[in-house]
Amino acid sequence: MTGAESEAMIATALPAGHDLSPRARRIVQLVQRAWGEGRVDLLDELLTEDFVRSGRSSQMSRTDLKASILDMRRAFPDLTMAVDRAVELGDELAISWRSTGTLMDTYLGLPPTGRQFSVSGATFSKLRGEQIESEWVVYDRRGGYVSLGVPLGTVTASTRSRGTADRIGVEPETLRALHRKLVTGVTVVTTDASGEPRGLAVNAFSSVSLEPPLILICVQKNSSTYSHLLAASHFGVSILSAGQMEVANVFATKRPDKFAHVGWRRGPHGSPLLNGACARMEVELQDTLHASTHTIFIGKVMFADHSEAAPLVYSQGAFFDGGALRPASVTDAPGS
Ligand SMILES: Cc1cc2nc3c(=O)[nH]c(=O)nc-3n(C[C@H](O)[C@H](O)[C@H](O)COP(=O)(O)O)c2cc1C
Repeated sequence: MTGAESEAMIATALPAGHDLSPRARRIVQLVQRAWGEGRVDLLDELLTEDFVRSGRSSQMSRTDLKASILDMRRAFPDLTMAVDRAVELGDELAISWRSTGTLMDTYLGLPPTGRQFSVSGATFSKLRGEQIESEWVVYDRRGGYVSLGVPLGTVTASTRSRGTADRIGVEPETLRALHRKLVTGVTVVTTDASGEPRGLAVNAFSSVSLEPPLILICVQKNSSTYSHLLAASHFGVSILSAGQMEVANVFATKRPDKFAHVGWRRGPHGSPLLNGACARMEVELQDTLHASTHTIFIGKVMFADHSEAAPLVYSQGAFFDGGALRPASVTDAPGS
C-alpha cells in the first residue's frame, strides 16, 4: 500500500465529520504503514526513544515492537491494519482497528495453513509533541486464535516470548538446578490427527482433577508433534515402565520412525497407545493455554488401563527403576 493509499484508507475509514488534528492524522497514518507495509523504519521517527507499549501481559520497547511487527509480517505477508475509529483528546489518541492476514509461514508453532487471520482491538496512545510516548493495547486475542483454527478453551497466558514482563530474574543455571530437583515419571504423548502416528517424550504431565478426570501436559511449540496435537480432538498418554528407557530415548528424538521401535495399538478414539507402558490413557482435548514457548494441553481422560509394571523414573537427567526406590526415613531429613 502506498502512502497516498493509506491516507485514502484512513479518510474513508474514519467517520465523516471526525475531527482529528493534522498531528493525529499523521500518527494514525504512520502506525498503519508500519503494520500494513512493514515500514518499521517509520517508528524511529514516530515513537519516542523511551516508548513503552503495554498489553495485558507484556511490555515492549520500540525495538521490541519493530521486531514483533516484522515477525508478524514474516508469517502474514499480506497483513493489513484498518482503522475504524479514532478519538483525540488533548495529548491522548484512541483508535479501534482490525488486522487481517494470511498465515503463510510458521507462527507461534502453527504451520503455514494459509488460513485467514483476523483480530480487532484498540490502542490508547499518549502523545508527546509529534511522537507517541506510550501505548496501551487491548485486542481480541481469543478471536485471533479462533480465526487461525486453534482449538481453544481458555487462553489466559501471554503468547509472547519477548518483552520485559517475560525477562527472568533468576539465573538460567539456578533455574535448571531447581528443575533437576524434581523427580518425575516419563510419558510418551501421542496423536494420530494427521492419519500418521506422532509422539514425543513428555515429563511435564500432571493430574488436574479426579472429578472431572482432567490431566495436563506441557509441550514446546517447536516440537514436530505440536501442530498435530493442536489439530487433534484426542491424544494418548503412555506412562513408561521401568524397562522402557530405550523407548523414552527414541521419543526424545525427532527421528521420523519413532513408532517402528515399539509395539502400539490404537485407543477407542484412535490415539496410539504404547505396548508395555505401565499405564495408558486416551484423553479428549478440553483446553489449551498458550504460555510463551510452550502450550499446556488440558484433557479429559476417556479411556485408561494400567499394569503391575513399575514406572520409569527421571531424575537429574538420568533414568531410574521406579520399582527399586528406597522408602524415605525420617533420619534422612536434614535438620531432623
Ligand atoms: C525425560 C524427558 C522429558 C521430556 N519432557 C518434555 C516435555 O514435558 N515437554 C516437551 O515439549 N518436551 C519434552 N521433552 C523433549 C522432547 O521429547 C524432545 O524435544 C523431542 O525430540 C520432541 O520430538 P518432536 O519434535 O518430534 O515432537 C522431554 C525429553 C525427555 C528425555
